[in-house]
Amino acid sequence: MKLAIIGTGYVGLITGSCFAEFGYETVCIDKNQERVNELKNSKCPFYEPGVEDLLDKHLNKTKLLSFSSSLSESIKDADIIFITVGTPSKRFEGEADLTYVWNVAEEISENIHKYCVVVTKSTVPVGTTKKVKKIIAKKISEKNFDVVSNPEFLREGSAIDDFMRPDRVVIGCENKKSDKIMKELYRPLYLIETPIISTTIESSEIIKYASNSFLATKISFINQVADLCEEVGANVQDVAKGMGIDRRIGNKYLHAGPGYGGSCFPKDVKAFIKTAENNNLDLSILSAVDQFNEERVNSIVNKIISKSNLKKGDKVTLLGLSFKPNTDDVRDSTSLKIAKLLIDKGIIIKSYDPEAMENAKLENSELVLCKDAYKACEATSVIVIGTEWNEFRALNFFKIKNNRENLYIFDLRNIYNPEELKDLGYKYFGTGK
Ligand SMILES: NC(=O)c1ccc[n+]([C@@H]2O[C@H](COP(=O)([O-])OP(=O)(O)OC[C@H]3O[C@@H](n4cnc5c(N)ncnc54)[C@H](O)[C@@H]3O)[C@@H](O)[C@H]2O)c1
Repeated sequence: MKLAIIGTGYVGLITGSCFAEFGYETVCIDKNQERVNELKNSKCPFYEPGVEDLLDKHLNKTKLLSFSSSLSESIKDADIIFITVGTPSKRFEGEADLTYVWNVAEEISENIHKYCVVVTKSTVPVGTTKKVKKIIAKKISEKNFDVVSNPEFLREGSAIDDFMRPDRVVIGCENKKSDKIMKELYRPLYLIETPIISTTIESSEIIKYASNSFLATKISFINQVADLCEEVGANVQDVAKGMGIDRRIGNKYLHAGPGYGGSCFPKDVKAFIKTAENNNLDLSILSAVDQFNEERVNSIVNKIISKSNLKKGDKVTLLGLSFKPNTDDVRDSTSLKIAKLLIDKGIIIKSYDPEAMENAKLENSELVLCKDAYKACEATSVIVIGTEWNEFRALNFFKIKNNRENLYIFDLRNIYNPEELKDLGYKYFGTGK
């Protein structure tokens, strides 16, 4: 089976590399020539653990993987074509911007020469895959291709493991032929007994949005409970533990913090709300989830300013800029939003992130970037832990304090023991405790 993957972002590149690892001849296509050139040299354009090893193995040793900027050349022999381009939010509207998907569908329609399956792996609103079919069908007979929805559930930072050992694979098909081809494709996962959910295209598209929206709901829920805990003297970590041990609830995504960010949850929640609106329905639970999350950074910044009496010209250390650990992705990063709000109030932000500083600087040139966490903590009296990278979990706060008084720590991710830091003389503020 020959595969073509269109779009070499987080999803496309991981999908392509992992299918090559399964043994398929795979070509990954991107319109960004610079990106393609880097990839041809086994250089991953973003930080994701393990990708460069897979690139090196399958570009140079097995030769199963190749990269190209020519869609027409690359898809002509493909049995399965994956669309993995971005589906960002339309500015101010919340709706998914499907421009990249439509453009790719047009290009595919002009370059198919034999039967193939066209798969939407990008996160797309219900109805999109069938619209892709309509676009292609303007030029190609419906007998010569099928469309399938096969959403991706990988998480940045553990993308390869998530792809190779997924909780489930969802396949939305219109007929047995394409369902059989997709099941054959994922046969390597049968060995590890991965559940394969075969369903309609519409259900498959909704499974992806409903899953992300549900996880975002858990996060906003525990964050609201965290605020209540702070008011009444409870500890949200104990509360989350007591809730999560109940198997009906589960302990995942019950970590209180500064709110969800990243390239998926914020935009997917908004797009799902919009889909409901377009169908005259009100996903009011999600509107509350989204609104609370949007406002959360403001309340966190207000808390930091009021508790530590910050004034214009003061310096604050911000540890972590990526939206979560093990990635350099800063799209919709809560850390960056906090930095911007503080900078807008005239506060100087000294920051360090193990991988995301280059991307962060492109977003906010006023960040003062430091070579490590200790440098970032020099000459500031307020330390904010924004992203829970492993290297921030065991910092030497005795050394950081260096006999100074009135130092504040805002541990937004609850990674430290408050008593230990208070014993060292810090004024400690966690989230929800
Ligand atoms: N990032 C994640 O963790 C994740 C997880 C699951 C699902 N998704 C979904 O997968 C999709 C892709 O996300 P991403 O983060 O990989 O996106 P991305 O923005 O990182 O990458 C998209 C790539 O597509 C390329 N592209 C755009 N138009 C093209 C065209 N006409 N021809 C060739 N290449 C083209 C771009 O140059 C870019 O390299 C989105 O719908 C997203 O919601 C993302």
